[in-house]
Amino acid sequence: MRVMVIGGTSGIGLGLARHYWEQGARVAVCGRHPEKLDGVAFARDSRVSVHACDIADRAAVARLVAQFAGDACDACDVGEGLDLLIVTAGQYTDAAAIARDRSSALPVLRVNVGGLEHAFSAAADAMMAREQGQLVAVASIAGLQDDYPNGSLYSASKRAAIAICDAYRKALAPFGIAVTVVVPGYVDTARLRELNHGDASGKPYLMPEQEAVQRIAAAIAGRDARCVFPWQMHALVRLFNLLPAFLKRMRKK
Ligand SMILES: NC(=O)c1ccc[n+]([C@@H]2O[C@H](COP(=O)([O-])OP(=O)(O)OC[C@H]3O[C@@H](n4cnc5c(N)ncnc54)[C@H](OP(=O)(O)O)[C@@H]3O)[C@@H](O)[C@H]2O)c1
Repeated sequence: MRVMVIGGTSGIGLGLARHYWEQGARVAVCGRHPEKLDGVAFARDSRVSVHACDIADRAAVARLVAQFAGDACDACDVGEGLDLLIVTAGQYTDAAAIARDRSSALPVLRVNVGGLEHAFSAAADAMMAREQGQLVAVASIAGLQDDYPNGSLYSASKRAAIAICDAYRKALAPFGIAVTVVVPGYVDTARLRELNHGDASGKPYLMPEQEAVQRIAAAIAGRDARCVFPWQMHALVRLFNLLPAFLKRMRKK
């Protein structure tokens, strides 16, 4: 199996990259800062390649995907092509940050929306010829929430990511290509802790990173269309969406 993870240098993406490496896959790990993997043992294995790539750069993504798909790996018996593309690259900003610095909005859209399209488009090119493969994007449960007081642009971008996955799923189904959108609640990654002053334990239904990786891997194996977790967060979001607007506005940031 040949797997590419864009956004694989830390957090959920790194966990998924390690998971597929443990399964015997040839894995390409991509991110803007490959040096983050300097101390990570599995990243030095001959079945793993590490690439500096900004997903917002359409040409660079297309080059990288085509190169990986066409590159036979001498050290592994997995042939050529691309079987699985996972996009976990994501940028976060909250509504207040946009008010302070309006340039902070652009990276969120360029990465979470534009970058996702760059990656899916390039991978679809590689997969359609062989009429097999799977595209996966990690969105967020914030994208299912109608009115998210603390992260409006982020949640809008993740809503767009979910919709982009739905559109690609329809388009690529005739070519035997599955599209899975992962819609997680809070996952206890270093990035989430950083956004919460070093401790994310107060977040509702916080899921350990490894458990999230296992859930995502199971959904990928099942070629599920959508993987939403944890169920408690999903239930809360669905309930919240049913509330009248004046009650939604009372929700604390
Ligand atoms: N943790 C949560 O609670 C949670 C909940 C819901 C959804 N999510 C989503 O899950 C994904 C992973 O989150 P995480 O918590 O694991 O955070 P993370 O560790 O910051 O992972 C983000 C990854 O994306 C890469 N990245 C960011 N911008 C990029 C760009 N322009 N081009 C290429 N790679 C880029 C980062 O690597 P470089 O620094 O090397 O570029 C990193 O490897 C994100 O999309 C996030 O929105 C997270």
